[in-house]
Amino acid sequence: MTEKNAAQAGTFSIGGDLEVNRLGFGAMRVTGKGIWGEPEDADGARKTLARLPELGVNFVDTAESYGPYVSERLIGEVLAPYDKGTIVATKSGLTRTGPDQWQQLGRPEFLRQGAIQSLRNLRLERLDLWQLHRIDTKVPQAEQFEVIAEMQKEGIIRHAGLSQVSVEQIKAAQKYFPVATVQNHYNLANRASEDVLDFCEANNIGFIPWYPLAGGDLIAANPDTEAISKKHEVTPAQIALAWILMRSRVMLPIPGTGKVKHLEENVAAAAIRLSDDDFAILNQIGKKG
Ligand SMILES: NC(=O)c1ccc[n+]([C@@H]2O[C@H](COP(=O)([O-])OP(=O)(O)OC[C@H]3O[C@@H](n4cnc5c(N)ncnc54)[C@H](OP(=O)(O)O)[C@@H]3O)[C@@H](O)[C@H]2O)c1
Repeated sequence: MTEKNAAQAGTFSIGGDLEVNRLGFGAMRVTGKGIWGEPEDADGARKTLARLPELGVNFVDTAESYGPYVSERLIGEVLAPYDKGTIVATKSGLTRTGPDQWQQLGRPEFLRQGAIQSLRNLRLERLDLWQLHRIDTKVPQAEQFEVIAEMQKEGIIRHAGLSQVSVEQIKAAQKYFPVATVQNHYNLANRASEDVLDFCEANNIGFIPWYPLAGGDLIAANPDTEAISKKHEVTPAQIALAWILMRSRVMLPIPGTGKVKHLEENVAAAAIRLSDDDFAILNQIGKKG
């Protein structure tokens, strides 16, 4: 194993049968400004995706709304036929009307269209993990969950997940299909989903923290974490990722970048071993926000 390899973070089996290295990759950043259109540095974005299998990153998160379609299409172009075993998780349930504009759209026909488009863009015959990007508050919840259960029965999707949900919403969805993963906003400084994480751990549901670097805010030098960063001779961003990996065995962080250098730095965090004391100190600092 090379020094930088996502396998050093250990593995988790999504839905009990889909093993991935726990340190994954978020592919929202291989798009244009406002997660709209083509990336400014298309060559850099392609190189970043191509580097993933070499670094042992075999879990990639995307969504049809990233671009829209741009992120999925690039993944398909660069990584299909996925002969290095890359597992791609995608999502539907948000429609895009311009840069930085995201609207919930959970009509069953739109969710089904999203999954069908994802198959085409990702060049797959079945989606290993398909996530409902948001439960649409304007559409009956049951209609959204029913179409997910149908797509699973039809073999369009293998495992199903949810995004930005409460424990109650997970339990409601479990009446329709097994919830394999939950993807909520979570990082060292944003702990609003602790109860959801605890529920996921108790029920062996993969927890995918989006914004693991707080969109970049956890990258800057931080006087509170400086001593621990210095001790391990790593960056604050790497400490934030090491903390999140240590927080739970079901944690599957997906830091996002369109740059090979940043990807390599993020993957190197898989090898950091924090002491229990380091973990406790970071935990307290993070809780302060
Ligand atoms: N389910 C949801 O609702 C939802 C919402 C948001 C995101 N997501 C998913 O979660 C993933 C992660 O979230 P995110 O990408 O928004 O935020 P993030 O991973 O917390 O941070 C990404 C930002 O940090 C920068 N960055 C990453 N690694 C760096 C490094 N080593 N050094 C310096 N800068 C670095 C990136 O810029 P560069 O490109 O310049 O490196 C980017 O601006 C997304 O890619 C997406 O797959 C899901």
